[in-house]
Amino acid sequence: MSDEYLSTGFADVDSAKDMDAYVDCLTLLDSLAYYQEYKIKSYELLQLRQGLMVLDAGCGLGDDACRIAKRVLPGGKVIGLDASVTMIEKARAHELATQLPVQFHVGDVNALPFSDNSFARCRIDRVLQHIPQPQKAISELVRVLEPDGLLLAYDNDWGTFSVTSQNVEITRTIENLWCDSFTNNWIGRHLCDHFISCGLSDIKIYPGTCVINDFQTADKVYNLRKTVQKAIAGGMISVSEGRDWIEELIYRTQMGSFMAALTAYTVIGKK
Ligand SMILES: C[S@@+](CC[C@H](N)C(=O)[O-])C[C@H]1O[C@@H](n2cnc3c(N)ncnc32)[C@H](O)[C@@H]1O
Repeated sequence: MSDEYLSTGFADVDSAKDMDAYVDCLTLLDSLAYYQEYKIKSYELLQLRQGLMVLDAGCGLGDDACRIAKRVLPGGKVIGLDASVTMIEKARAHELATQLPVQFHVGDVNALPFSDNSFARCRIDRVLQHIPQPQKAISELVRVLEPDGLLLAYDNDWGTFSVTSQNVEITRTIENLWCDSFTNNWIGRHLCDHFISCGLSDIKIYPGTCVINDFQTADKVYNLRKTVQKAIAGGMISVSEGRDWIEELIYRTQMGSFMAALTAYTVIGKK
């Protein structure tokens, strides 16, 4: 099993010992119906059309940037930016990257290498949960957005993370430990505050809840086993409590009653 802890490692993917853990996580999430639906909804809310200049900040493997590029043809262009050199290399190697008007740059969303008013649309998807100054990042995105341009952010609210189990105390311990390991664990519910502080108008909020029904998938994207190990190492639960909790979740998957749920928010505003 990889050492990587996904809640903290996405802040600096290039320092990871096992890069595949991050690539596999993004690839797996992108394959889930819930993710495909909210991502398509985000393109629709952005009112993408031919000729627009679009920024996807924290673009990861470049899948959104390529899908958006198809929607701004002809004449439009998409820039995908990510802090990780490795992510940008993977995005540049995307099978569609050479056929579409899309470019990928290494850069920090807190200090965007673009002039004021450069983009008609900006999008940031599950990045703010990992960075220390989300307000700074949003103000940078607003700076590079042209007047009347639209900014869309999607992010998780880890305070809503729930796993169904008989053992209330152990479940609370694991949920809270995972939630509190994120730099901005409640960013989802604070997106609207940041949009208002940055002077955006016509703000709309759309909640969505991702439900995963099998332990194996949930463990891959929510590090359930590793969080149990951390709780044991920190003296919060015993070895047998951790083992029994995981066994119940595996049993629930076999019985069809496993559930891990997480609410996230899509927020859109106009400059
Ligand atoms: C959870 S991934 C989401 C990737 C992509 N938006 C998606 O929906 O699949 C977070 C991404 O943000 C990037 N990232 C983290 N901190 C960043 C920063 N300060 N500036 C730009 N990108 C950053 C990471 O390298 C990673 O690719």
